[in-house]
Amino acid sequence: MTYKVIFFGGTGDLAWRKLMPAMYEAFRHGALPGEGRILAAARERHDDASYRLWLAERFSQLSWAEPFCEQAFAQFAEQLHYLPMDLSDPQSYTQLRAWIDREPADAIVIYLATAPKLFTQICLSLGKAGLNRSSIRIVLEKPLGHDLESAIEINEAVLSVFKEQQVFRIDHYLGKQSVQNLMALRFGNSLFEPLWRREWISSVQITIAEDLGVEKRGAYYDHSGALRDMVQNHLLQLLCMVAMEPPSSDDADSVRDEKLKVLRSLRPFSAADVAQYVVRGQYRAGSIAGHAVKAYRDEPGVDPESTTETFVALRAEVENWRWAGVPFFLRTGKRLATRGAEIVINFRPVPHSIFQAPIGSENNRLVIRLQPEDSIELHLLAKASRRDRAEQGRLAPVALDLDFKEAFGSQSIEAYERLLRKVIAGRLDLFVRFDEQRAAWSWVMPILESWAQHPETCRPYAAGTWGPPAASALTAREGITWPEER
Ligand code: BG6
Repeated sequence: MTYKVIFFGGTGDLAWRKLMPAMYEAFRHGALPGEGRILAAARERHDDASYRLWLAERFSQLSWAEPFCEQAFAQFAEQLHYLPMDLSDPQSYTQLRAWIDREPADAIVIYLATAPKLFTQICLSLGKAGLNRSSIRIVLEKPLGHDLESAIEINEAVLSVFKEQQVFRIDHYLGKQSVQNLMALRFGNSLFEPLWRREWISSVQITIAEDLGVEKRGAYYDHSGALRDMVQNHLLQLLCMVAMEPPSSDDADSVRDEKLKVLRSLRPFSAADVAQYVVRGQYRAGSIAGHAVKAYRDEPGVDPESTTETFVALRAEVENWRWAGVPFFLRTGKRLATRGAEIVINFRPVPHSIFQAPIGSENNRLVIRLQPEDSIELHLLAKASRRDRAEQGRLAPVALDLDFKEAFGSQSIEAYERLLRKVIAGRLDLFVRFDEQRAAWSWVMPILESWAQHPETCRPYAAGTWGPPAASALTAREGITWPEER
């Protein structure tokens, strides 16, 4: 098989930090099919040779899981090409078509790693240049739209040029190893399925916590905020993975149909619900790992009076037979105490206990950890074999811990590498369909609308903490604590 991958925005941060390293790793491990060529397209003046040097220099700034191999990079670089492009000039697209047509390829991937405001213009220009043929796959990075209306607008423009089966909308969380493992755990094992329902599960908690602030993305982030940046996409996709019914196959549309049903079953928020079930916050100055960090409002590019949220915690409900009444708590934030992402499935207590109260009040819990390492832990209660009289005969929590690095003995594949390989292979199962995206935007819109009317509801929290205290109150009302509070 032969392939060509074209990266618009080939000199941008995403390209050199994530996309090119992913292609390089896939190449180095022989995971790419057959012969390929990669083209970086951007405004800057480079030729193939100067781009290769530029990329080598950028690669030297990255930290690699395995020592960087100059020889492998030299081989990889032979595939790399560069095309200077002016996105508003039809001539540039003619040159691109000439490069694509120079030698035939089975799969042609065009990855738009540019600002999303350029997507419409690029897609229409590709169409005019005849670059919408069926062998072309178009990859779109998030954010795809700022709200429901703009998301529909962009998607309609893209779909006026390409067919839905040609469009690969990225949510890089779907490429993470642990999300693959969640699918495997649920649908490759019979053990959990009978328990995976409201009769046995009391609540679900999904957290994506970051210790970093907005870094150099203040200007973008201040117009986005955590709800658009993380909840509308990553957190809702994780919720879908937990809540979806078993698909009839691993075929892309079978999986995506099931996720869509979940998104459509989410209970809509009224304005009163937003006040009661959604907490938003913004970080003030604080300290992380002993280092003082500044407030969000003092970050470059951020409005000094900004009311944009850097933290969200909310309570969602999936209204169907499997999940009715089970709260799904979603939480994400920047400048939190530590970096970590996990899904916690809390099981109900036993109906009648014959034991004394356990040491530490624990119910069974399944923890699917995505970050910093992939792991799955099953928390059980066991007889503590301790001499201490007070503890004799009592139950204590103990975890069955599956560490994937230990089990499979190798580095897991990075999300972008997995996703790029899927695009080249033409598999859409880890990409988001337009109707999923529309359903996700529809669900978050009442929250955005309510916040626009009540900017004062954004609560401060000190950097290095777990967000505003109201986030603890949100779960405490139902007798639930967040993992770090246990
Ligand atoms: C991106 C968001 O989609 O995900 C960023 O735009 C966020 O703000 C990032 O930092 C988190 O991804 P990961 O894989 O580092 O958890």
